[in-house]
Order: sequence, then C-alpha cells, then structure tokens
Amino acid sequence: MDPQAKARDMLSRRKPGHSLEQGFYTDPEIFQLDMQNIWYRDWLFVTPAVALPKTGSYVTHKVGPYRVVIVKGSDGEIRAFHNTCRHRGSVLCKAQQGQVAKLVCPYHQWTYELDGRLLWARDMGADFDASAHGLGPVHCRVVSGLVYICLAEDAPDFDAYAEMVTPYLDVHELTNAKVAHQSTIIENGNWKLVWENNRECYHCAGNHPSLCRTYPEDPTISGVAADGKFPEKVETHFNRLEAAGAPSRFQLAEGGQYRIARMPLLDGAQSYTMNGKIAVQKRLGRVPFLDAGTLLKFHYPTTWNHFLSDHSITFRVTPISATETEVQTTWLVHKDAVEGVDYDLEKLTEVWTHTNDEDRQVVEDNQQGILSPAYKPGPYSSSHEDGVIQFTDWYCETLGNRIDPVRLAAE
Ligand code: FES
Ligand SMILES: [Fe+2]
Repeated sequence: MDPQAKARDMLSRRKPGHSLEQGFYTDPEIFQLDMQNIWYRDWLFVTPAVALPKTGSYVTHKVGPYRVVIVKGSDGEIRAFHNTCRHRGSVLCKAQQGQVAKLVCPYHQWTYELDGRLLWARDMGADFDASAHGLGPVHCRVVSGLVYICLAEDAPDFDAYAEMVTPYLDVHELTNAKVAHQSTIIENGNWKLVWENNRECYHCAGNHPSLCRTYPEDPTISGVAADGKFPEKVETHFNRLEAAGAPSRFQLAEGGQYRIARMPLLDGAQSYTMNGKIAVQKRLGRVPFLDAGTLLKFHYPTTWNHFLSDHSITFRVTPISATETEVQTTWLVHKDAVEGVDYDLEKLTEVWTHTNDEDRQVVEDNQQGILSPAYKPGPYSSSHEDGVIQFTDWYCETLGNRIDPVRLAAE
C-alpha cells in the first residue's frame, strides 16, 4: 500500500482521546510522510540569534537530508542557505558552528559572500556566470531574537505567529543575551513521543524531583485549558503581570500550532533552581517581578521554551529517524553576566539537565513499550493530558489535510 493511503487508513481508524496506533511511532514510511508534510513545510526554530554574535558567525543544522547554514552578514542580517556548494554540491560548512570571513567550499574553494553571492571560482572560463551560482536561499525570519527557517519553496504565513508572540517576548530582551550553555541529547523515541511527553505534567511527580521543586504539576498550568478559563489564582497572576507591563494572558493559535502564556511557578519560586531562587543575579530582560513565573511558548513541530525573570531556555526538537530525536537546549543569560560572579553554571543548568535526562528515559521507555506487538492505543487523561490531546489532534489534522487526495489533486 502506498504510504499516504496507509496513513489515511490509520487516521480513519483513530480513536479520539487515545494515543496513536503503533505505526505512527515506529513505521519508517510514516516517518517520511511526517518529514515531507510537516518538517519540510513548516517554520522551524533553529537557534537564538545571539548564538551568531559577529559578522560571519554561523550555525549549521540538519533536517532529514537537508543541510542548512545560518550566517550573520556584514550588514547584521541573519540569513539561511542550503549548505551545499553550487559547483558539485559539497557541504560548505562542516562544523556545528563557527566564524568565517567568507563561505569557502572545502572541495575546490569556490568562495561565497556571507549574503550567498558567489564571489570567486577558479578557472571557470570567460562564459561562466557567477551571479547564476549563488547559494540556494532558505526562508529565514528572526522574531524577538529567535531564528526560524522554512525549507519549503513557498513558506506558510509567519506574521500571525510573530505578531502574537512578540509583545510577550520583548520584555525578555533575548537580543541582549549570550549563550551560557547548550546541551544536545538524542532521545531514542519518535519525535511525537517527545512532544506528547512535553505536553503533560502527569508524569512530573513520578519522574522529575528537581523540576517539581518549582514547577507545579497542576494541569491548568502545563496543559491547555479546554474552556479557556483558569483558576482565580492564575487569573490574579495574569492581571498582576499585565498591569506591570508584561503580557501574560494565555493565547492559543487558531489551528493549535502555537501557544503562549506566562504561568506561575509554585508559591515563592522565582526560577528553575533547586532552592527556587533566581540563578542569575544580573537578570536578562525587564520582567517586573522575580516571581513572574515562566513564559511558556510552544510552536509545533520544533520548539518549546521557558522564559524566566532571570534567564531564558530554548528547546529545539529535530527528528532523526522513526525512533530517534535530537533535543537541543540552550540557556541564555544577560550578555554581561559573568560566570562565577553573577551565576554558577551548575546551579543555572542542573534542573533542566536532570529534567531532560529524565524525559529522555520516559520517552525511551514509552518507545520500547510501543514497539511491542502487544501495544494498543490507550486513553489519555482528559484532565492531565489535554495538552497531549491538543498535540495529537493538531498532528492528525495537519497530516490528514496535507495527504488528503482531494487537496492533493487540486495542488
Ligand atoms: S564542490 Fe564546492 S568548489 Fe567544487
Ligand atoms: Fe517531563
């Protein structure tokens, strides 16, 4: 059966409110459909802009077989290009990140300007048109210091997202930051299991002793309130923050691809540390209170984030295979904060380093159990796992629409 027909069959058998059937988490053909219909078509978060501090700073990224280089030009613009030479296709930048004066191909040294123009190619003859051999551009947008790319030829709208999140993010001043630490881990689980796990805190009490010191497992905070209503305590928190100039109120995009809300931490907690106090004395941003909670933002399929009163943390999800996913975490602090003086790196990173590893473990256990022939879709808790229901609904609807035969015929 062709993979699209197989996926349509699986979607038609889907039991609402239940985990997906096995093939969605294990089948390499379904994984390819995910890549083609979601990952190669939607906007993807790549890096905080401050990871590219200077002219010629670059970061490389790999999404399936696509290789992309994101580079800062001499005009300060951040641009993205296919990381493949226009001569015979060699990869241009091989490191994860670095800084260059020009982009020089390692094979025959074709040399590109930081804006992608081909500057120099040795002995190509009088007829050679360098202007026709610039690097292939990749859509690239920077929103409040967060860099996104889109691999599709025609990128979907990004403005609605940028408009919704910019006022919330601006108070965090992510362009005034530096990268304090970055970790990249591989979770041996399907990318959707990584997301399902992220979208609930039903597992928190049993798995996250460090996180639970400050993060409430209360589903109205970690999930998506079905009726848009929050307990009085949360409403009070929204009002207090908004009155002080920090947009906080919960917003969910139509279609459910992204959400933003500044949610409270446990009483008295300021940041994700073992003692609940801020981790960085020189604070990043102008959040009005230390106990402002955490600005939670997700944007499917690549990123969830925590923006705090003293530092910010970005997370990037990248699928590798049907059963492997990379998760990159970046801790951002004020650019003038001095390690050892304003913050202790261990104290800054320990909660999420533990939490990421605990999440990796539960995702891998989840994947192993799903690989058993005895696995059957099981029911989600409607109170604790409404965020998971929201994610799987978004996924099934998005994939279903994009492999719909009527729509495909019309395209
Ligand atoms: S492949 Fe890049 S210069 Fe030849
Ligand atoms: Fe978790």
